[in-house]
Amino acid sequence: MKKIPALLAFSVTFLMSGATPRLLPMTTFNSQIILKLDSAAAPSLLYFGPVVKGDLNQVLDAAPEGENTPAYPVYGNYPEGESALSVTMPDGNMTLDLIRAGEPESVVDNNGNTLTTIPLADRHYPVSVTLNYLAFPKEDVIETWVDITNNGKKPVILDRFESACLPFRSTDAWLTSLYGTWANEGRVNNEKLTPGMKVIQNKDGVRNSHTSHAEVMLSLDGKPSETSGRVIGAALLYGGNYRLRVVTDDHGRHQLFAGIHPDESSWKLMPGETFSTPAVALTYSNTGMGAVSRNFHRWGRQYHLAHGTEVNPILLNSWEGVYFNIDEPKMAAMMQDIADMGGELFVMDDGWFGQRDDDSSSLGDWEVDTRKLPHGIKGLTDEARKRGVKFGIWVEPEMTNSNARLYKEHPDWVIKAANRDIVEGRGGTQLVLDLANPKVQDFIVNMVDTLLTNNPEIAYVKWDANAPVMQHGSQYLSADRQSEMSIRYHRGLTSVMERIRAKHPDVAIQACASGGGRANYGILDNFDEFWVSDNTDAFQRLGAQWGLSYFFPAVAMGSHISAVPNHTTFRVVPLKFRCDVAMTGRLGMEIQPRDMTQQERDFCKGAIEAYKGFRDVVQLGDLYRLVSPFDNRGVVSLMYVSPAKDKSVFYWFRTNNDYSAPLVTRVPMEGLDPDASYKVTEINAIDLKPLPYEGKVFTGRFLIDNGLEMRPSHDLEWGEKVDYCSRILLLEKQ
Ligand code: DGJ
Repeated sequence: MKKIPALLAFSVTFLMSGATPRLLPMTTFNSQIILKLDSAAAPSLLYFGPVVKGDLNQVLDAAPEGENTPAYPVYGNYPEGESALSVTMPDGNMTLDLIRAGEPESVVDNNGNTLTTIPLADRHYPVSVTLNYLAFPKEDVIETWVDITNNGKKPVILDRFESACLPFRSTDAWLTSLYGTWANEGRVNNEKLTPGMKVIQNKDGVRNSHTSHAEVMLSLDGKPSETSGRVIGAALLYGGNYRLRVVTDDHGRHQLFAGIHPDESSWKLMPGETFSTPAVALTYSNTGMGAVSRNFHRWGRQYHLAHGTEVNPILLNSWEGVYFNIDEPKMAAMMQDIADMGGELFVMDDGWFGQRDDDSSSLGDWEVDTRKLPHGIKGLTDEARKRGVKFGIWVEPEMTNSNARLYKEHPDWVIKAANRDIVEGRGGTQLVLDLANPKVQDFIVNMVDTLLTNNPEIAYVKWDANAPVMQHGSQYLSADRQSEMSIRYHRGLTSVMERIRAKHPDVAIQACASGGGRANYGILDNFDEFWVSDNTDAFQRLGAQWGLSYFFPAVAMGSHISAVPNHTTFRVVPLKFRCDVAMTGRLGMEIQPRDMTQQERDFCKGAIEAYKGFRDVVQLGDLYRLVSPFDNRGVVSLMYVSPAKDKSVFYWFRTNNDYSAPLVTRVPMEGLDPDASYKVTEINAIDLKPLPYEGKVFTGRFLIDNGLEMRPSHDLEWGEKVDYCSRILLLEKQ
């Protein structure tokens, strides 16, 4: 369910203060979780904050007397409070009474990450729970999860089994979360926590990040700020249904609960079986949300994204260019076009298999449509090789259509409730395969493996998923296991991805799910990136990519230049603005280049060349969000700085052409080395009149204190007047 780095068993270093009760710290370079361990009681979580200097007992002495903040509250004595774990014992007893069942242990892996485990057990029943804390010192992230084991002889029912509970205190705490829908992903919501319970949840079954996100920030010092205040970041690493709850009382005490959604999902835990929950990643900063994001980005790239520490290629995807109208000459022409513009990869999207001329057929029938591609995939990889670009392909392996041969041969492979008619989705015929079924898992692994083995030049797979679970029912699982369908689906998917990854470790895989339905660290372990949204309107993308950047690094965000009028919003945004926005993420194109003028192609060629010169800074550097699209200030601004602070890319976008509103033309920069000097070069400049500071050198201190004046020109499109305006500045240390 989660990836734990191989741990070396050599070290059982374990630091605890000697006093009773004892304190157990889990420590990163800048943050610390401290548990309080009483001799026979379950631990309390006493502290999450900066590393405590001096005697740890300061934390204990300063804590409110008699306060009980269980590290993992269970449904048991005093059941009026919220709990993370609820179990029904074989005799019907619905309570747990956990006590410590041994000494905590701590092991360090070869990256210097420390896993601390604390064994607990029920006082009477043979059920044990292990609390796990995996600290990543350099990234300032601590992952936590639990393992629940049935040591008895009869099954136990897990009714609720959340991953973690984090207690925190603040009388002015704010929750930052993401919400949205298809084509409107990554919207930011900030709200003050008031007494009661705030619930964030997703029950789509297949995708889980359109309407809500399993990641949040908690600002403890009032309204969220990018640069100040204590902020906790929390991300649940799970690709399926989830629920996050923040419980707030009338005295500024809060608890964040996060875990798999318990609705209709009870789990029968067999004798000897252990259920491991997904992890929750926690990070802390006392300098605002920006630092929390940068921690998540570093940790995500290092430990959760496939190939996360390498830059991703510049690609052309065929979808918005030709949709289902794929054929060999068109694909070859697109390959030639992206090669001519300096791109590195061409991705053939939906429509290449079965008889797939629209979205109503052929999923599951993964043979090449030779009407469209007479020389098969090999013909295309040959064409790509000739043109010096790599080749990628779209698949949607978790799905079928009711008119597909696959469904006719295996009607029992789809998700369907007993004695109910099938419920069909996209195209009026789409069905979800039952990934709880090992035969379905084998079919998918075999299909993808065959495709990649027969076509070893496929370098990239766009893995799509365009339907939710539309009816609860597994035709594979027994009657008493129906409630496990959703969890077993996602375990099945993880296993499928791991098997494919093991055989094809170098292939890049994009998580796409009707746009941005799979932006979650629980699924991204096996993916290189995700598709942010089917809405490619540059103006809208400023918002979506901004929101997602709270938790995900730019290397993971597919960000494409598309045609105007935009196919979703019908907005007409100038090409420069479209390029500039796409260059804030993993740059690509989603357009028919043959519909572009030579001038436009030349412009994109220049943009691609420039991007190659600094994409490592964008994709692998540190992000500083400067002016938010959600503050409606008429301007959006952000910048990336290389880890060595020797190179930076600054972006400025005018989003409101309103002469009655004062424009933010000067944005103080961040993240630079104040003592260094940086030369300024404008990127994608097309107003033919250099900015006054072009080629000039400024100190980091000056740029941080003052910024540079932006020229909000209307003359940006080859002498034409336009209403949008954007600037990119490259800053290079001298
Ligand atoms: C939904 C994706 O989000 C699109 O990019 C495209 O791949 C279509 N599916 C293809 O059917």
